[in-house]
Order: sequence, then C-alpha cells, then structure tokens
Amino acid sequence: MKAIKLLVSTACFMGMAASTHAEEPATLSIEGQAFTIQASAPAHTENLDEVTSGWIYRTKETRALQLDDFDNPGFVFVDKAIDLWNEVDGSEDKSCASCHENVEDFAGLRTTLPRAEDGELVTMEDLVNECRTEQMGAEPWKYSGGKMTGMTALIGLQSRGMLMNVAIDGEAAAFWEKGKELYYTRVGQLDMSCSNCHEDNYDTMIRADHLSQGQTNGFPTYRLKNAKLNSTHARFKGCMKNIRAQPYKVGGDEFKSLELYIASRGQGLSVETPSVRN
Ligand code: HEC
Ligand code: HEC
Repeated sequence: MKAIKLLVSTACFMGMAASTHAEEPATLSIEGQAFTIQASAPAHTENLDEVTSGWIYRTKETRALQLDDFDNPGFVFVDKAIDLWNEVDGSEDKSCASCHENVEDFAGLRTTLPRAEDGELVTMEDLVNECRTEQMGAEPWKYSGGKMTGMTALIGLQSRGMLMNVAIDGEAAAFWEKGKELYYTRVGQLDMSCSNCHEDNYDTMIRADHLSQGQTNGFPTYRLKNAKLNSTHARFKGCMKNIRAQPYKVGGDEFKSLELYIASRGQGLSVETPSVRN
C-alpha cells in the first residue's frame, strides 16, 4: 500500500487512519515538512505491528494546533528559551551562546536521547544541567521546570521531522532491559502496567480520552490541560498517579530507563517537539 500523505486541510483524518494499517509509513505535513506518524514497529517491540504518533488520537481541533507553528502554543515557550539561550548566568559570566554558536548545531541530538555514557543513562535535561553547573558555574534548573522544558523544546526542535533512533545495544542494553521490565510491571491500587493501556488498548476510549501508544516523540509537549510544556517524566508521573501508584522520582533512574525503552518503541517516528496534546 502506498504511504498516505495527510495534509493540513485533511478533514476526516480518523476515517483515513483506519485504512492505513500497512507496512508503509504514513506522514503528515507541518509547514511543508513531512513527518512520519505511523510506521512498522521495530523488531524489538515484540507485541506491536505498527508504531503510531499520539497526534493521530487527538481531536481534530487539537491536531490542527500542531500543524501550524503560529497556532502551536508550545512556541511561546520556545521563544522564551531563545532569550534564556543568550542570558548570562553563573560564576563564569557565560550564556549558552558563549560556547555553542548556534542552537541549530544540535540537530539530530534529540533522536538519540537518552543515551548511555560512562555507566549512566543521560537525558537532554542532564546535558543541559551539566553545562549549567560544570561550564557556567550556575545553579541547575529544576528537572521538569519551565526553564528546562523551554530549553529542551528549543534544542529538540532542531531535530523536528527526524526519526527517533536511540541506541539500545552496548552500554545501553542493561538500561533498556530495566525500562522494559518497568513498562510491563503492574503497579498501584489499580494494579496496571503501562502496557495494559498503551499496548493492549491503544486506539480505544478510556472515559473521554482516546488512548494512544504513549509515545514520547513529541516531548516536551504542550498540554491544553495545564497550558504549558510538559516533560516526559512529568507525563510518566501523571500516568502513574492516575493508576494510584507511587510515581518514581522525576529525573531518577527508573524514569530514565523507561524513557529509553519507550523511545526505542517509537523508533521510526518523527520527532514532533513541541507537540500539542490535551
Ligand atoms: C563554557 C562553555 C559552555 C557553556 C557556557 C555551555 N556549554 Fe553546553 N557544552 C559545552 C561543552 C564543552 C560540551 C561537550 C562537548 C560537546 O559534546 O559538544 C557541551 C555539550 C552540550 C550539550 C550536549 C551536546 C551533545 O551532542 O552531546 C548540550 C545539549 C549543551 N551543551 C547545551 C548547553 C546549554 C543549553 C547551555 C546553556 C544553558 C550550555 N550548553 C552552556 C560547553 C558549554
Ligand atoms: C489507565 C491507563 C493508563 C496507564 C496504565 C498508563 N497510561 Fe499513559 N496515558 C493514558 C492516557 C489516557 C493518556 C492520554 C491519551 C493518550 O495519549 O494516550 C496517556 C498518555 C501518555 C503519554 C503521552 C503520549 C503523547 O503522545 O503525548 C505517555 C508518554 C504515557 N502516557 C506514558 C505512560 C507510561 C510510561 C505508563 C506506565 C508508567 C503509562 N503511560 C500508563 C493512560 C494510561
């Protein structure tokens, strides 16, 4: 089957989605750029035939907000991050721009994170805070705070449209296994695992919400619910609270491993940062 090009003006996307369960990727177009929103599942994603972007499952109105950067509220925060990029802070009197000439130089980075390095799993947030503390002599930013999500959105944006492609072998293998285990472990008073909703029941309704595969290719994501950018870990935390489980620590080892595992399940989907969700 041929890949189906979904354009901004496509009126009844869900009708078409039903007929796109094929091996060829489906794409959408934002500002003239093609985004893969549906692709064959990678071999390591054992129980899925296809991987799909969360964009597909949102309402027509919510989807539309992501199709035009002017309408996408996430860009308000990206603009603020451009100011932060140039802002001098810390004992060394430096800004990000003092050392990194162009933020565009980070193109591709988002597709490869988190990555294993010297026995640790490193996220985008870790890289930013490492520069703040080690290079600038500045205080680290709060892991899921407004400055951090703005900056990770600005850096992530440089990879927009590129395909997710994290390494899961070598040093990363042990973290990936741990993330996989967490993904399938039932937790909380409702005794549910991530897979119970996002693998077993995606594309069904849970109360008023259309369940997606819980992919992370759009993060940080602007949510209409709280009118700000949300980090991957903040979203994981919210899902754990919803099943009445004690969430793991934001920025901690469990969520980082889970982030790697889920990123690997999105292999082949385009980075949509900053995406828009409800
Ligand atoms: C004093 C110089 C300096 C400052 C200031 C600085 N950085 Fe860095 N940054 C570096 C060096 C050196 C590296 C490691 C070399 C590399 O990987 O490019 C790095 C690496 C990074 C990386 C990882 C790149 C990669 O490919 O792994 C990111 C992301 C980053 N910096 C973001 C920032 C941000 C955001 C700021 C401002 C909050 C900032 N940096 C401030 C010097 C600096
Ligand atoms: C009771 C069902 C349920 C469980 C269990 C659950 N979630 Fe979710 N999750 C949701 C709903 C509902 C949404 C919002 C609609 C959607 O995107 O699926 C959501 C959204 C997400 C998103 C955002 C997707 C996007 O495109 O923006 C991520 C990521 C996510 N969940 C990860 C997880 C992780 C990790 C776990 C396990 C710790 C988990 N979820 C467990 C119901 C669940």
